[in-house]
Amino acid sequence: MSKIFVDACFGKETPYTPVWMMRQAGRYLPEYMKVRAEAGNFLNLCHDPKKACEVTLQPVDIVGVDAAILFSDILVIPDEMGMDLEFIKGEGPKFNDPLENEADLDRLIGGEEAASKLTYVYDTIKLIKEQLADDKALIGFTGAPWTLATYMIEGQGTKTYNICKKMMYSNPELLHKILAKVTEVVKLYMEKQIEAGIDVVQIFDSWAAAIEPSKYDEFSWKYMVEIADYLKEKHPEVPIIMFPKGIPAFLDNVYGNFDVFGVDWSTPMALAKEKLGDKYVLQGNMEPCRLYSKEATTASVEDIQKTMGTSRHIFNLGHGILPDVPVENAKHFVSECQRVSKKS
Ligand code: CP3
Repeated sequence: MSKIFVDACFGKETPYTPVWMMRQAGRYLPEYMKVRAEAGNFLNLCHDPKKACEVTLQPVDIVGVDAAILFSDILVIPDEMGMDLEFIKGEGPKFNDPLENEADLDRLIGGEEAASKLTYVYDTIKLIKEQLADDKALIGFTGAPWTLATYMIEGQGTKTYNICKKMMYSNPELLHKILAKVTEVVKLYMEKQIEAGIDVVQIFDSWAAAIEPSKYDEFSWKYMVEIADYLKEKHPEVPIIMFPKGIPAFLDNVYGNFDVFGVDWSTPMALAKEKLGDKYVLQGNMEPCRLYSKEATTASVEDIQKTMGTSRHIFNLGHGILPDVPVENAKHFVSECQRVSKKS
């Protein structure tokens, strides 16, 4: 059975423009909070294929999105490379042993050995595929090497990125070695996600905007393109979505063998369309906080639809849904996207 989401990623005609939401499986859903409480904590939930499968399917059943996204986290990659990951309540992720020098990097597990340790992710994918309706797609994902490296070097989320930027300008060779080692793991990890059954790949570069535009290719984009090239050669049937957040100044320089460009909420959709619309299908990009108001949501959905028409587009938020959004408003967003883009 053809999947409307996969068709849309390849720019084929679809009955309406499909929609999903970044971070759609999460705390705004009471059903998610219940399963997370049963699991004890967030990492246990990621490690438990049955429970991770359950929360992956929740937004498909409850909110009506056209694609599921694997429930996991980008940081399980450095965790399985041997770093010590913790999620601290109210503070977010933390590595207790951030990378400071080459010896720290050499201690990390790389390549096939690291990718093979993520079996709980592959098991989760297989379970989801048994239960997901045939006409819905399953999105697998990874963090971009740069976004992963920011956590590996800073040890946690950061406002200034001063530790990794100090490395960028004073010891770029070390930063490139870290990025290259992560890239090797990510290639094999995503290949194994595909072999386990995912239909689409998304690469999240959430902290792209931390890099000045003239350095963005060197420290992030080229590694993302390397991953896409590797996967495209082995699995051309699997579409790839690139989501570099907050880099409108780089739009003229975007290149690479992938299918969908994810537009964040700070980039006007019309600008992205003008620069990239002929070459890539565009995904996005409602400002996530509009979800607090149904009127503001409808206005934005209509506006985006007017700009994009009814082809070469996938509806999404311009970044993740926030935990205090009413479920009813998320449902409203999804049904409005499907309504305004429906072809008679
Ligand atoms: O529904 C989905 O999108 C699938 C699941 C998913 C999670 N994390 C679950 C999660 C995905 C795709 C991610 C990706 C991720 N993780 C990114 C890139 C995407 C983005 O939003 O930019 C990043 C930067 C991370 C790192 C991360 N994980 C942070 C900074 C945090 C804490 C912030 C927060 O939202 O609490 C997490 C935790 C996390 N990952 C939660 C979920 C549902 C919250 C955990 C909980 O309290 O239940």
